[in-house]
Amino acid sequence: MSSEVAGSQMSIGIGLMGLGKVGGRVAKVLQDRSEVIVQQAGCPSILKKVLVHDPAKKRDIDFHLITTRVEDIMGDPEIDIVVEVIGGEHPAWEYIKQAIFRGKHVVTANKEVMAKHGVELLALAREHEVDILYEASVGGGIPLITPLRQDLVANKISTIYAIINGTTNHILTMMSKEGLSFSPALRQAQQLGYAEANPSDDIEGRDAAYKLAILASLAFHTIVRPEDVYCEGIAFLDEHDFRYAKELGYAIKLLAIAKERNDSVEVRVHPVFIPAEFLLAKVDGVYNAVQVEGDLVGKMLFYGEGAGALPTSSAIVADIISLAQKINLKVKGSPWPLSSYCKTITPISEIETRYYIRMSIADHPGVLAQIAKALGDHLISIASVIQKESEVSTQTAEIVIMTYPAKEKAMQQALKEMEKIAVVKEIASFIRVEA
Ligand SMILES: NC(=O)c1ccc[n+]([C@@H]2O[C@H](COP(=O)([O-])OP(=O)(O)OC[C@H]3O[C@@H](n4cnc5c(N)ncnc54)[C@H](OP(=O)(O)O)[C@@H]3O)[C@@H](O)[C@H]2O)c1
Repeated sequence: MSSEVAGSQMSIGIGLMGLGKVGGRVAKVLQDRSEVIVQQAGCPSILKKVLVHDPAKKRDIDFHLITTRVEDIMGDPEIDIVVEVIGGEHPAWEYIKQAIFRGKHVVTANKEVMAKHGVELLALAREHEVDILYEASVGGGIPLITPLRQDLVANKISTIYAIINGTTNHILTMMSKEGLSFSPALRQAQQLGYAEANPSDDIEGRDAAYKLAILASLAFHTIVRPEDVYCEGIAFLDEHDFRYAKELGYAIKLLAIAKERNDSVEVRVHPVFIPAEFLLAKVDGVYNAVQVEGDLVGKMLFYGEGAGALPTSSAIVADIISLAQKINLKVKGSPWPLSSYCKTITPISEIETRYYIRMSIADHPGVLAQIAKALGDHLISIASVIQKESEVSTQTAEIVIMTYPAKEKAMQQALKEMEKIAVVKEIASFIRVEA
């Protein structure tokens, strides 16, 4: 554990697991900012060992620190804090558990592990009188976990609207601003290094769902699992939708939405129309923004670079300093209560929102009346309709309908009935509207 140096001053030993984009930067910040760390933590933090997968890779770090044996970290009594920046569920989850069992504090940037296993890991840490901090797991360098856990804790939080996936936000920005369709926008994001070679976690909304599960658990003092989050991706979006969105005064964003009503929690990630004048509508490119509404504080917006090694290292090193302060003061465990109470999750069928529907119809008189009837039969009222000039060769027209708020269940039934109307050729898009 912490070793004595220079009289009564302690030093904190750090074991870094992962030396990739984020880990490499964390190692550098620990080295370059050592004076600031001593000043803030009250003692130096010393990098003792670095776990990697491939020992043959050329690294910008003292090679004596590198190891491929996890036991070199777990079994080192001078390592007080384990920083996990390997990513993915395995073996990161097992390594974090081992570190806790060995009485080491943990800092992690791993949203997947914290979303899937955070509840158990936090309880295990409590049992072993250590702490696990995970500020970097959501929003890179944007402070979100600490504000929700600490600064906003006196509030009853009602709503979170979040753009928490930079890859999809960049793609949607390109589709909106440059008129690109989905595939070229994705390719461009990959060329710029904003999207992985396998981008499925991002574009299918899973990455945002992990992050939303973490945020909603903290905001609503409950347990939200990733599988509780209703999730739709962005691959089906079409450039036509962006054109109509602009015409109607909206932007299209992949939003992570969490709401609490009457002890029931609504958690969903899907593309939405939001009014163009909303601050969130103006968040472009790889930037992230999270709007939190609390009963005391009102609406707050957290905005910044949601990923990238530099911003992420800012959150990780802050967590390291925070733990070093506790170790130095000999404070054990964590002051924050563990959530054991599970509020109910509102099923997607029970949510109520407005809808945008784009469809191709046969250009005949009376078609609109049939569509209005299918919606009306389910108590859904039309707020506006746009009909574009028809295609003479195919005798089809494109119409866009915006509805007033309606229950999702009613809307899904109405969509099924509309699909059966002979003159409806295709329901091309169906997007929820948050206003
Ligand atoms: N990149 C970002 O902008 C960002 C932002 C926020 C949060 N995060 C999170 O930070 C974490 C790390 O991301 P990253 O982008 O730095 O990943 P990365 O560049 O792929 O680095 C992963 C590191 O882990 C090591 N590693 C992989 N498998 C291992 C194993 N089985 N045993 C030991 N070491 C292993 C790799 O070793 P080798 O070097 O030998 O290959 C590499 O050093 C993830 O949880 C990610 O979600 C990343």
